[in-house]
Amino acid sequence: MAANALDQTAAWRLILQAVNRQNTTTSSSDYDNADSAARELLTIFLPLCRHLPDGTRSLVVGQMGQSLDGRIATVTGASKYINGEGGLRHLHRLRAICDAVVVGAGTASEDNPRLTVRLAEGPNPVRVVIDRQKRVPGSHAVFTDEQSPTLRLTAGTYEPGPKLLPRNGVLDVPCLGNDQQTQPKVILDVLADFGLRRVFIEGGGLTVSAFLNAGLLDHLHVMVAPMIIGSGRPAFSLPEIDRLDGALRPSAAMVDLGSDMLFALNFSHGQAD
Ligand SMILES: NC(=O)c1ccc[n+]([C@@H]2O[C@H](COP(=O)([O-])OP(=O)(O)OC[C@H]3O[C@@H](n4cnc5c(N)ncnc54)[C@H](OP(=O)(O)O)[C@@H]3O)[C@@H](O)[C@H]2O)c1
Repeated sequence: MAANALDQTAAWRLILQAVNRQNTTTSSSDYDNADSAARELLTIFLPLCRHLPDGTRSLVVGQMGQSLDGRIATVTGASKYINGEGGLRHLHRLRAICDAVVVGAGTASEDNPRLTVRLAEGPNPVRVVIDRQKRVPGSHAVFTDEQSPTLRLTAGTYEPGPKLLPRNGVLDVPCLGNDQQTQPKVILDVLADFGLRRVFIEGGGLTVSAFLNAGLLDHLHVMVAPMIIGSGRPAFSLPEIDRLDGALRPSAAMVDLGSDMLFALNFSHGQAD
């Protein structure tokens, strides 16, 4: 290895510096001194960091941590932990490069996640809980630990326009209307009003599937653990199709994370990245 080789730690710092920076390369081939692990990291993350000029659409990244048989939890909701160390570090890295991390009320209630960055270097994103009926217990970490601001999206009518984030507390944002299911685009528009345009949809399966079905995911990182659960909550729930030519076939990069295999899917169809 050359004396000045770029290793994974240095590559991750470059990635953090590249987030939303204008005139920064999003191509790993520009780093010809990177070792193979660093190059892999740059290849996967730099496209997610690209500059988002004012007035352009948000960049949306989803993730799914699943078993070989496409489950994200048992029937009783137990999901800790399907993915191993490599998968969890990757999840924390995704949080660190995004403005906001979004979870559905199911995940927030059942897992009581902190949604902070602990297994990687980088800032905590703003936490967003889609909780129409305010069913997530107020004692849960995202509402009490003050590690980062939390937005709780609830039923009700929204007044569009620029908004300020709370410093580290919780803000209720009525915006989900009064129907059972809100168009995911409404959620992105609300987050953009808070200046949150690099958005990470962390889970669970219903929430990620709703964004995928609406065609709003630019990237989807599926981490597959070598585990068969055999029953339980499905990763993806999409409308039925009769023929395989109706299946989604995004471009994919496959990366061995050690404990898990990452499928880094790109749905952006030749758009800006
Ligand atoms: N392995 C992984 O990567 C991973 C990641 C996260 C979670 N999980 C597991 O997944 C399970 C929970 O996932 P899940 O799929 O059952 O639920 P979920 O996606 O966490 O939450 C779904 C709920 O969020 C609210 N919601 C989401 N999108 C909405 C929209 N567009 N409009 C209105 N409300 C919306 C609804 O709440 P209301 O019903 O209250 O209206 C909906 O029922 C847990 O067992 C958790 O452990 C696994």
